Order: sequence, then C-alpha cells, then structure tokens
Amino acid sequence: MSDAPIDPRHFRNVLGHFPTGVTVVTGLDASGKPHGITIGSFVSVSLDPPLVGFLPGLSSRSWPLIAQSGSFCVNILAAGQDELCWRFAKEPAEGEDGRFGGVDWKKAPSGSPILPGVIGWIDCRIDSVSDAGDHLFVVGRVQQMEHAENADDAMVFFRGKVASVAMPPAS
Ligand SMILES: Cc1cc2nc3c(=O)[nH]c(=O)nc-3n(C[C@H](O)[C@H](O)[C@H](O)COP(=O)(O)O)c2cc1C
Repeated sequence: MSDAPIDPRHFRNVLGHFPTGVTVVTGLDASGKPHGITIGSFVSVSLDPPLVGFLPGLSSRSWPLIAQSGSFCVNILAAGQDELCWRFAKEPAEGEDGRFGGVDWKKAPSGSPILPGVIGWIDCRIDSVSDAGDHLFVVGRVQQMEHAENADDAMVFFRGKVASVAMPPAS
C-alpha cells in the first residue's frame, strides 16, 4: 500500500490543534557566542537515564552552532514571555549579541544561557542526534535542572498563537 499524499498546509493546521509548551533551546558556539531557538517540539524522553529531546529543522542555522559545544539548555517559558518567544523565532538582529541583545541571561553549569523569568531550565549534554524527515531528533542527557518557586502559569502555543495555561485556584 502506498502512502496517501498529505497536503503540507493541512498537516500544519491539524498539528496546530495540538497545544504545546514553548521553550527556547540555547547554547554556545565554539567561540563562546550564545545562540537560541524557540522550540515547541520539546519532549521528556526517559527517566532512567534522564533524557529529554527536541526536533530542530534541517534548515536551522542556530542548531549546528549550539551543537559545537556539545551541550544545550532548554528554557521553559512562562505565560507573558511573548517577546522572548518571537525574538528567538525570528531572524537574529545584526551584531555580536544577535538574538541575545538586551537579554540579561546567566550561565547554566554547561555555560549555555538561562533566560530571565523562565519557569524551568534543563541543562543537557548531547546524547544522540538522528534523522527525522526534514528535522533532526536531538536527545540530551540531563546534567542539571531547576524550576521556579510556585510557578503558576506557562506559555502554550495553540493554532498558531501564543496562549497560556494557569493553575486553578486552590479549593
Ligand atoms: C511556538 C514556536 C515553536 C517552534 N518550534 C520549533 C521546533 O520545534 N523546531 C524547529 O525547527 N523550529 C521551531 N520553531 C521555529 C523556529 O523558532 C524558527 O524557525 C527560528 O527562526 C529558527 O532559528 P535558527 O534558523 O536560528 O535555528 C518554532 C517557532 C515557534 C514560534
């Protein structure tokens, strides 16, 4: 049986009905310059060993640079961090700092950037990279991770728009 053709626009529309969290995957290139990409395909992979994954497109310019360090850090965005979401999804600004211009980031243990105000971060060593159609499936071995105290909302991407999910009030 041959595979039925799937219209790419329909594919995007249907997958857009699956709400995802929003992360920014960050890292340093060989010269120590920071890079970051807005990523919705983040997934928890394994508890023992602790593995997480995400899928950068084959056309990603930042992923090959981040990969130079052998590490990356996943930053989980809070509701209201729309500016960071779009900043790391658009063309980087010209200059030394690129997408990080004006962002007050600090270093995770690997050196990869932790962005301000995120509700969690997961610092990883690259464990494996495999082909997945027009994307790569990157699996990271978790080195260190942390979450914010009492985080009560998160960013969600649904039908092409940024939305949010909030904790219900305590009953
Ligand atoms: C909410 C959201 C989720 C995204 N998820 C992914 C993803 O999982 N994989 C991917 O390759 N691009 C994803 N993108 C698109 C990239 O952020 C965008 O193409 C970016 O410009 C890539 O940067 P680069 O070429 O510097 O790597 C997403 C964009 C948004 C707004």
